[in-house]
Amino acid sequence: MSTSSAPRALRQSASSNDEVSIAPAALESSDLVLEVKDFSVDYGWGERAVRAVRNVDLDVHRSQVLGIAGESGSGKSTLVYAVTRLLRSPAVISGGDARLFLDADKNTGSDVRTVDLMRASERELRSIRWSQISIVLQSALNALNPVLRISAEFDEVLKTHRRDMNRHQRRARAVELLELVGLNEDRLARFPHELSGGQRQRIMIALALALDPQLVIMDEPTTALDVVTQREIISELRDLRARFGFAMVFITHDLALLVEIADEIAVMYAGTIVERAPAASLHDAPRHPYTLGLLNSSPPLHGKHHELVGIPGSPPDLAQSLVGCSFRARCPFALERCASETPPLVAIEDGGRMVACWLHDGSATNLPEALRREVSLSKRAAPQPRATKEVGS
Ligand SMILES: Nc1ncnc2c1ncn2[C@@H]1O[C@H](COP(=O)(O)OP(=O)(O)O)[C@@H](O)[C@H]1O
Ligand code: SF4
Ligand SMILES: [Mg+2]
Repeated sequence: MSTSSAPRALRQSASSNDEVSIAPAALESSDLVLEVKDFSVDYGWGERAVRAVRNVDLDVHRSQVLGIAGESGSGKSTLVYAVTRLLRSPAVISGGDARLFLDADKNTGSDVRTVDLMRASERELRSIRWSQISIVLQSALNALNPVLRISAEFDEVLKTHRRDMNRHQRRARAVELLELVGLNEDRLARFPHELSGGQRQRIMIALALALDPQLVIMDEPTTALDVVTQREIISELRDLRARFGFAMVFITHDLALLVEIADEIAVMYAGTIVERAPAASLHDAPRHPYTLGLLNSSPPLHGKHHELVGIPGSPPDLAQSLVGCSFRARCPFALERCASETPPLVAIEDGGRMVACWLHDGSATNLPEALRREVSLSKRAAPQPRATKEVGS
């Protein structure tokens, strides 16, 4: 996808130095690339089923980076693997819809082709995976075949999906992709065990971008890496997104890291989204007690360090039916009604902020100070300088 053919939202702000987040209010529904509605996933059947994802609504717009944050076990991976139909038994999609809106279909000449992901055949799914929607799985660092050279990994993907390419063209494309992620051509001759974790993760990212997909899903792509390499990869991903205009869903348990890359962040707890807001607003002025807890328990990216305070307790057992607010047992601000009434995810203020918490329904008289901070105009973290030569890590 060249920059000149980039989608509308990207053409408005195609520079990687453009610090303005794409606020949801400014996005048009015609810019949707993924729409998920009332989506639920269980593991197992009947009374003992683990209800891992519960009635989630989610949309991702063209060239937007949507971050999904939450502690381990909150349902992040289950949600995206189920939406992309990668989950296998005992996972059951127990309700909801997911649709992909793809730009300009060469075959029919239509502007937007809609793929109903829940009803698509395996054949149709195969035709869009890699080429339109690519996924870097949580275990990606071990995903490369240990007995294949890196060149063979690229060759396989390109051979399968780009039959028009000959061997030389495939090689040239592999070299181009490696350059995009800051790696030299000589890496193509290596085996995975000859590369560092950071280099293998870069190769996974290059493979994910090989066919110019419209949506890239990254599940904890930097979790196993050291902090410096994490920051370099985040910075490179921001550059690549700005250059090629793909939309991205970026999943991590590290909320502070997510603020560096996401335009908007959805926070998941016990299988539901409890807050969704533009990244800078969510970081500066959280509204849900769980978001506040996540921020207090991770080191700040910039400015003064604060004392790190973990969230006491543990998430509820998802095999039990949940009554009231699922965060109640750990919430320092719980109200009486939180024990019996489940707060819906509702818009609470301008700028596209949504929150599921009774403290914000207008009736609470004592809203804690920590949950009513003003939304500052702070910008996102400045991107780190892009590596111009081969990265060592
Ligand atoms: N194969 C499985 N069988 C039963 N429960 C599972 C299975 N895989 C995941 N779960 C449960 O589903 C919930 C969500 O898991 P997951 O989507 O992996 O969370 P996250 O990606 O946020 O860490 C967790 O409570 C987890 O224990
Ligand atoms: S609804 Fe109640 S228990 Fe849940 S987060 Fe809000 S105040 Fe806490
Ligand atoms: Mg996960």
